[in-house]
Amino acid sequence: MSELFSVDDKIIVISGATGVLGQAMTVYLASQGARVVAMGRNEDKVKSLVADISDTRHKVFPLVANVTKQQELEQAKAELEVNFGKIDVLINLAGGNMAGAVITPEQTIMDAKINELEKVMELNYLGSFLPIKTFLPLFLKDLKGSIINISSMAAQRPITRVLGYGSAKAAIDNLTKWLAIEFCSKHSAELRVNAIAPGFFLTEQNRTLLTAKDGQLTKRGQQIIANTPMGRFGNPDELFGVLQWLCSDASKFVTGTIIPVDGGFNAYSGV
Ligand SMILES: NC(=O)c1ccc[n+]([C@@H]2O[C@H](COP(=O)([O-])OP(=O)(O)OC[C@H]3O[C@@H](n4cnc5c(N)ncnc54)[C@H](O)[C@@H]3O)[C@@H](O)[C@H]2O)c1
Repeated sequence: MSELFSVDDKIIVISGATGVLGQAMTVYLASQGARVVAMGRNEDKVKSLVADISDTRHKVFPLVANVTKQQELEQAKAELEVNFGKIDVLINLAGGNMAGAVITPEQTIMDAKINELEKVMELNYLGSFLPIKTFLPLFLKDLKGSIINISSMAAQRPITRVLGYGSAKAAIDNLTKWLAIEFCSKHSAELRVNAIAPGFFLTEQNRTLLTAKDGQLTKRGQQIIANTPMGRFGNPDELFGVLQWLCSDASKFVTGTIIPVDGGFNAYSGV
């Protein structure tokens, strides 16, 4: 790996580390020499993830916090401060869709459950904003760093049924751009904020929506593949290139962007 893209020894905090994409990213970044802090809300799961992948070559550290709970994040910040003194990268991966914030074909918005909408906004939007706000002083120690939010195809192109999650991820896009400007003007032009917008990756969140028990595509799965010019779902390792670029100095003039990794879904008009 060239020096330009190096993440060697960078302190990278990743929320949602025990999820499908989170585990893949944690293992990858550790394999590239980063000091990865795997953050999750379930202590047992975080510890078992770290035990599975830590060895003499891989430096992975556990950190327990719910991304929607300010107090837990303050505690996490104190631990980061004691153990590392600063951080270089924050990846806000914790998030996801929620069944209760979906409008089924038989429903209308009259059936929308407001408390479920609040929950999905809280997890995806506040669950990214609060870690940024809480950990900001750790970036300001040497006035630079990279914050990577996770958006979705549902942000820029509203997806049928997906009411709450789409709105929450659209708010992430706006927040990403807004913070990029805010940090340049008030804190440091070297503190960058960008987002990755993954297309469709088969994970536990969407497996039953996209595939049947026998592995065949559901109608929804077929519609997604038909709208993905590359004709398939993504594999978690196909996020690593953009991730490494955003973590490294190779992207040091890049801020306020939302980068699709989607097999062409976002560019395709369907005709
Ligand atoms: N899988 C896809 O196709 C896809 C596409 C676009 C965007 N994304 C986004 O990528 C991210 C990771 O998704 P994934 O597919 O790996 O899903 P996942 O469900 O496997 O992982 C989500 C992780 O977030 C954690 N989490 C949930 N609530 C939390 C909370 N309050 N505090 C701390 N952690 C919490 C979960 O425990 C889990 O580890 C999510 O933000 C998701 O919206 C996924």
